Amino acid sequence: MTPRVLLTRRVPASVLRRLEQACEVDLHEGESAIPREELLRRIPDADALLCLLTDRVDRTVIEAGRRLRIVANIAVGYDNVDVASAAARGIAVTNTPDVLTEATAELTWALILAVTRRVAEGDRVVRAGGWSGWALDYMLGMQLRGKQLGIVGLGRIGRAVASRAPAFGMNVAAASLPNDPAPATQGSLPLPPVAMMPLEALVRSSDVVSLHVPLTADTRHLIDRRLLTGMRRSAYLVNTSRGPVVDEEALAWALGERLIAGAALDVYEREPAVHPGLLPLQNVVLAPHLGSATTETRTAMADLAVSNVLAVLEGRPPLTPVPVP
Ligand code: DGY
Repeated sequence: MTPRVLLTRRVPASVLRRLEQACEVDLHEGESAIPREELLRRIPDADALLCLLTDRVDRTVIEAGRRLRIVANIAVGYDNVDVASAAARGIAVTNTPDVLTEATAELTWALILAVTRRVAEGDRVVRAGGWSGWALDYMLGMQLRGKQLGIVGLGRIGRAVASRAPAFGMNVAAASLPNDPAPATQGSLPLPPVAMMPLEALVRSSDVVSLHVPLTADTRHLIDRRLLTGMRRSAYLVNTSRGPVVDEEALAWALGERLIAGAALDVYEREPAVHPGLLPLQNVVLAPHLGSATTETRTAMADLAVSNVLAVLEGRPPLTPVPVP
């Protein structure tokens, strides 16, 4: 019998064709995430689930998937999937590591530059007709050369971000956490010298703090009021990992009080909602979760997820299984 795959969002046509050659595809059409009741209605007939980070694949969904053999998440993060429940039922869970590392590192640097050089703020002023001309002291930012980039989480993406620091003359320090993902074996630029230090010391001494940890029970609100208070007043926080790693309420407070110079966020605690305290602030850059959003990368992510599905449905081991807790 041809296996059936529930696909919760459109993927590039070339990837869809690959899947359709081997499987019957039940595609959720539409611009937004599959509604939960739809997911629960369609999952019992699926041998495989191809899903996104916006789909909550919890125990209820896993248990409703009576025929399910694999949950293939089209993302490197898999905090949306109950891996333990899947493992208990012999269901493989896979993610898409490596293929999005470079794109996410590039976006991180785009945010570092945008916030330290006030690019988004300046764009708003120009569009609003509020620019009255060049002045020596107008909209000054922070130069990167000679400053310290503090990486929290020296896994694949953290390393790829660090490897670009020499291009801007920045020194790199890092705090490694127990759940850091394994470093990539290929693809990244060489890693410059990295001063390893505890998180508190890193946050205290860095000019830019950039977050690259997965969301786990240990990293939820890792950056809280206490750590934010320990940052330099001239420092910037950048988050391209997962929103709940930062206590947004505390961040809005710290930015509003000018306890730090600025922040650039790609991810939020309750996406797509953004903490209302952040919206009026000029010293925060807000991007709509674009870390892996290049044509090349999104195609590679979907392609890898499909390879995982096909492997499992053909009785082979998955290519990129996530660790079972
Ligand atoms: C991921 O893959 O986890 C990213 O957040 C997607 O952009």
